[in-house]
Amino acid sequence: MNKNLIRREQQIISIYLKKKKKEKMTTKIICVVNDVAKEDTNLHSEHGLSFWLQTEQGNVLWDTGQTPEVFSHNLKVLRLSLQDIDMLALSHAHYDHTGGLGAVLSSNTTLTLFAHPDIFQPRYSLRQGEYRSIGLAYNQSSLSQQIKLNLSDAPTKIVPGLWTTGGISERPEPVGGSPHLFIRDGADWQPDPYRDDISLVLKTAQGLVVICGCCHAGILNTLFHVERNFKGPILAVLGGLHLLYAEDQYLEHIIHVFDERFPNISLYLNHCTGENAFKKLVNAFGSRVRACPAGTVVNFND
Ligand SMILES: [Fe+2]
Ligand SMILES: [Fe+2]
Repeated sequence: MNKNLIRREQQIISIYLKKKKKEKMTTKIICVVNDVAKEDTNLHSEHGLSFWLQTEQGNVLWDTGQTPEVFSHNLKVLRLSLQDIDMLALSHAHYDHTGGLGAVLSSNTTLTLFAHPDIFQPRYSLRQGEYRSIGLAYNQSSLSQQIKLNLSDAPTKIVPGLWTTGGISERPEPVGGSPHLFIRDGADWQPDPYRDDISLVLKTAQGLVVICGCCHAGILNTLFHVERNFKGPILAVLGGLHLLYAEDQYLEHIIHVFDERFPNISLYLNHCTGENAFKKLVNAFGSRVRACPAGTVVNFND
């Protein structure tokens, strides 16, 4: 056969294989638990958050919602099985992100848990003069007997293309705090510094996707940290931004920074973002801001 013809055939096969590979490389992000569920579904809602990330390299669960009942119910409706989870990552200790952990442990003990080492520090909520425990229901030694732990303050690879942010210690901007959340230092009660708060970073061909839990570290602190530690423009943010207590002036500042530094960003917001913040972001960025109730599916090409 003519050599040129063979070379041409090889080129065509190579282009086809590359295209095929590209087509397959998609990460699907499914919101399993949120404060609001999609209408016209059997999904339940509760104050809490969980996302299922279906990547080419495995399934990663991000947070577990507040209760095993809602978490397990929604997984069933979405036809997802905890036995198919390869890795688990927790955004921080609070009960509304870790309350369904028991359901994971009773179905799957072969996975690895990624989190910040500070996640085991007890956390409290002060309501009507009483401190209520709202942290992780497991201590480190009991949990390490059941699953493998990968605790780190540094950005950590979960599967290829998906990383934790690691601890976000540089915080020039306000944190996403609540005045009633505390930790205990000896006999003293201190405002929770949210040292355990991390987010996820998904690397795609077009840029970075940041997946937040509650974003207690502060959305701008988190995005600046991602810019410093990862390469590429920030394309999208999903999850809760904890802007419930943010004043209008600060929301305007966030909008200004987004405009200047992240001009094409898309936002899929839910959980603790707050209605006022959501409305203001929609006013500023229109259809680039969407609600992300339980049952939402967002696809990103790697
Ligand atoms: Fe929280
Ligand atoms: Fe939360």
